[in-house]
Amino acid sequence: MKDETLLAQLGRRSHEHHGAVNPPVYRASTILFRGMAAREEAVRNQAPTYGLGGTPTTFALEEAVAALEHGEHAVAVGSGLAAVTVALLAFLEQGDHLLMPDSVYGPSRSFADRRLRKLGVETSYYDPTIGAGIAALMRESTKLVFLESPGSLTFEMQDVPAIVAAAKARGCITVMDNTWASPFFFRPLDHGVDVSVVAGTKFLAGHSDVLMGFVVSRAEHFRRLEATAGDFGHYAAPDECYQCLRGMRTLGVRMPRHQENGLALARWLAGRKEVSRVLHPALPGDPGHDLWRRDYAGAPGLFSIRLAPHSESGFAAMIDGYRLFGLGASWGGYESLVWPVRKLPRSAAPPAEQGTLVRFHAGLEDAGDLIAELEAGFARLARA
Ligand SMILES: Cc1ncc(COP(=O)(O)O)c(C=O)c1O
Repeated sequence: MKDETLLAQLGRRSHEHHGAVNPPVYRASTILFRGMAAREEAVRNQAPTYGLGGTPTTFALEEAVAALEHGEHAVAVGSGLAAVTVALLAFLEQGDHLLMPDSVYGPSRSFADRRLRKLGVETSYYDPTIGAGIAALMRESTKLVFLESPGSLTFEMQDVPAIVAAAKARGCITVMDNTWASPFFFRPLDHGVDVSVVAGTKFLAGHSDVLMGFVVSRAEHFRRLEATAGDFGHYAAPDECYQCLRGMRTLGVRMPRHQENGLALARWLAGRKEVSRVLHPALPGDPGHDLWRRDYAGAPGLFSIRLAPHSESGFAAMIDGYRLFGLGASWGGYESLVWPVRKLPRSAAPPAEQGTLVRFHAGLEDAGDLIAELEAGFARLARA
């Protein structure tokens, strides 16, 4: 079945819920058993005996996300960042070495630098475009290679199969943050990655009102991931699970529209004198374009631009005057956003270009209206 069909069908089991189309919200901290035999059976089958392990609402969502990612299991947790930390903590221990792309999501980097370091795990950052060259950075102690393609501020594409092959040759685990593409446009497990992490907060939930994350794997790693989430008391609230699953039903309609709008804005911006570069892997000429074309089924509307030299007051006037582009960081909702990037923590591959970096998330609005707003913004930039 095609993804659009799966999205309408996955995780429903209506016959188990009095025919309701959507699985209802089960809120439960306490799970009751009919008697001792039932309790023993639940323990034997590793069925939930306590609300922290999830309810049928959680399981419906986990089933749907796992199937969409082409995994066998998904563990739902309370945020995308929690999913990243669970995936790392499941495999890393004192003395291990971790390789992370220099373009990685900032809080994932902070987790490695602040928390993993204290646990005795050393992190090295690599140029995200390194490809097979990553083999040269591997040590005896390298346990895990983390990928995130493209980086969600500077949009460098990674050669996922080449990095995975190098990691496998050394017996290293690979974990990939798949939030940008979502499983609708890319499936890390199909490309040999061991664990896919996706922030449901973004495109899966899709309405800027839910925080949620998933760790997806085949059976081989599931118990370890599930136990790690459990040991840290991670939890995905049933109301959030319901909202996320409801959001996912329209993923197949929203993603192509995000893509179309993102490309319309990116192409228009590429022709403007105020813009020195557009960073969008789906644009021909982007350094990551060939990798994107080879591996990805599409691109959402999240991309950045570098501005040509400008005045600070003009820049503030441009941003402050936007009405359709909300000034907000967490992308993936139906509404457009703008996010000026002030600081790029880099150690291995600082970007060569200068110029103010501004990230856009193209929502589902009319592309012409969005472009008119960008045009008016450039007029403010010039006037100030
Ligand atoms: C690439 C990427 N991964 C993970 C996350 C974390 O998601 P959450 O906000 O649900 O913690 C984000 C959030 O911005 C992100 O951009």
